[in-house]
Amino acid sequence: MFLLKKVKYKHILDIQHLSIRENKITCIVGESGSGKTILLRLLNKLISCDSGEIYYKEQELSSIYSIDLRRKIVMLPQQAAIFPGNIRDNLLIGLKFAEQPIVHDSELQHTLKMVHLKNKLDDPSETLSGGEKQRLALGRIILMKPEVFLLDEPSSALDDETERIIIEQLVAYTKENQKSLIMVTHSRNIAQTYADDIIEIHNGTIAHFQEVSDERYH
Ligand SMILES: Nc1ncnc2c1ncn2[C@@H]1O[C@H](COP(=O)(O)OP(=O)(O)O)[C@@H](O)[C@H]1O
Ligand SMILES: [Mg+2]
Repeated sequence: MFLLKKVKYKHILDIQHLSIRENKITCIVGESGSGKTILLRLLNKLISCDSGEIYYKEQELSSIYSIDLRRKIVMLPQQAAIFPGNIRDNLLIGLKFAEQPIVHDSELQHTLKMVHLKNKLDDPSETLSGGEKQRLALGRIILMKPEVFLLDEPSSALDDETERIIIEQLVAYTKENQKSLIMVTHSRNIAQTYADDIIEIHNGTIAHFQEVSDERYH
């Protein structure tokens, strides 16, 4: 689905070849500062590589309009923005930015359940905790129904139990709806449990690529 060839970004990333599969759960692991966030930002065309090529479904990213690309590929940053207003406003704002149709409250409520939030749609969003804000932002991008989710440490502010519930929901949703999930995680346990593929980055290069799923089911 994604193909990277000889991609360089400043002195930070240097990737000879990387292929990321469609309809799979891909986890990106590696120490802090190794280039994980930069890689996600390249895939979402928030930044462009200095040399090399990045393809999404055989099309070079530079030839895809950013707006079109970001309807198909949506990124949840590590510190997702929460906007003034209530929970409903914050859920709908992704759809508004992407100029997609607004959805009914029942779908919003269903999405809140998916991200394990018990709030009402009219509740204020400013008073949520860091972990709750992160889940609200996750709900916002689930509503956008992208082909690919790019998540930057989505569960770093969550306790272990909530983390497990959210990741399980997301993985199930991805599989059931033929989406693709690419997720940076600090947790080797999460990667080993849920990933089909694990990409390990070290100092801006691919240190290791592991297909887990085939091993797990044997
Ligand atoms: N816009 C930028 N310009 C220059 N250097 C940056 C920029 N953003 C991040 N870096 C540096 O690039 C390296 C990789 O960053 P990042 O991808 O954020 O790491 P992480 O793996 O922790 O997500 C770090 O050394 C960071 O300081
Ligand atoms: Mg990072």
